[in-house]
Amino acid sequence: MNDEADSVLHSWCVPARWNAPTVVGGQGAWLHLEDGRRVLDMSSLAECSLLGHQHPKLVQAIQQQAAQLCFVTNQWGARVRAELAEELLEVSGLRGGRVFFTLAGADANENAIKVARLASGLPRGAVIARDRSYHGATFMGMALSGDARVQAFVDAQALGVHHVPPPYAYRCPYGTATPQACGAAAAQAVGAKIDELGTERTAAVIMEPNAGTNGIVPPDSFWPALRRATRERGVWLIADEVMSGFGRCGHWFAWQKHGPEHAPDLITCAKGLTGAAAPLGAVIVSATVYERIQHQMLGTGLTYCGHPLSCAAGLAAVRAYRDEGLIERSRRLGGWLFERLQRLQQRHAVIGDVRGGDGLFAIVELVADRGTRAPLAPWPQMPPALAALLQDAMAQGLSFAARGNLIILAPPLVIAEAELADAIDRLDALLSRHFPG
Ligand SMILES: Cc1ncc(COP(=O)(O)O)c(C=O)c1O
Repeated sequence: MNDEADSVLHSWCVPARWNAPTVVGGQGAWLHLEDGRRVLDMSSLAECSLLGHQHPKLVQAIQQQAAQLCFVTNQWGARVRAELAEELLEVSGLRGGRVFFTLAGADANENAIKVARLASGLPRGAVIARDRSYHGATFMGMALSGDARVQAFVDAQALGVHHVPPPYAYRCPYGTATPQACGAAAAQAVGAKIDELGTERTAAVIMEPNAGTNGIVPPDSFWPALRRATRERGVWLIADEVMSGFGRCGHWFAWQKHGPEHAPDLITCAKGLTGAAAPLGAVIVSATVYERIQHQMLGTGLTYCGHPLSCAAGLAAVRAYRDEGLIERSRRLGGWLFERLQRLQQRHAVIGDVRGGDGLFAIVELVADRGTRAPLAPWPQMPPALAALLQDAMAQGLSFAARGNLIILAPPLVIAEAELADAIDRLDALLSRHFPG
């Protein structure tokens, strides 16, 4: 029995079944366990440790900041907070805007909705999100998410949230014949939903430009069409880049793949913002949105908004991504990873679809029958053979993330090429063992 099981309630699990090893340290893509074993982290923990574990520049930045100024509320200025905000406005392409700091991703989304509603003059304006999305576990986060696990806990419509089906091309809810048609249909559905609710009642649309843990990677047609549909109707577009930001999808932010003309009005981020070395989220607000709110009361705040220790970690992280060329590295290794996974698909009938590959992020969807695309288990249940594969991998010192029928590959961007190649070779062997024939 692990010590923690006697005292801690853990997230997203059945408490009585929680049983995980204790981590005492790490280096690069490796986690070091209390019992002396090392585990190669193929998911960056919760897709957040993009710079690997114990990155020396992050550790040093936090130590130096702690020695100088641990904390001051954001009613006061802090040099490190201003420097990080300037960097974020620069890399996000939203120059002239402003940054509102939060503690994590869920509250970044909550506050993005508040800002968008304030900027639209609709304090309770409608918000459109999509089914099978994940935006966080606070109440508004749950309302925005199309996450079957928690839907019963919240009345999304009471909070002004409306959902549309996702651009899930492999199982297109719009019944289209090609991925690009599916992306276009999903964007069109958002436009139709705004028209149905009324442009004068709708404040914002919030979407993940690339995958979240839901495993849906929108076809390239989706984001540009979504941007057009929202712009034409004068509705703010919020890009939830909590998971996809900071190189995970091959760019600073995933939407940038589509060019600056398709910039969202607000961007939310967290996770990679500090490489998870300290808790921090942010809402990056465009200059246009800022102009609308600058003379209004911004009725929001968290005691620890823009905590200096976290901002120091964020500043060091942004500099590390840039100085170590990690965004380009993610793009290059992501292409390699995607190609390797496609080759695995040829060898393993259980792999129905492989998607992603814009950066070091890919989804492998397992199916019972490739011809009919019948899922191995109904979403969001995990098929027992996949659970066994994950256990077997852990016993070999290899940690993969998985949800439902999906294996989510999101290693730290600093993973060595040989480590990545070895992990995929071992995944190949694990698939043969757990899904023979
Ligand atoms: C796309 C997306 N948005 C929001 C969140 C919530 O972030 P946090 O857990 O930091 O509140 C997550 C977390 O996984 C996420 O993937």
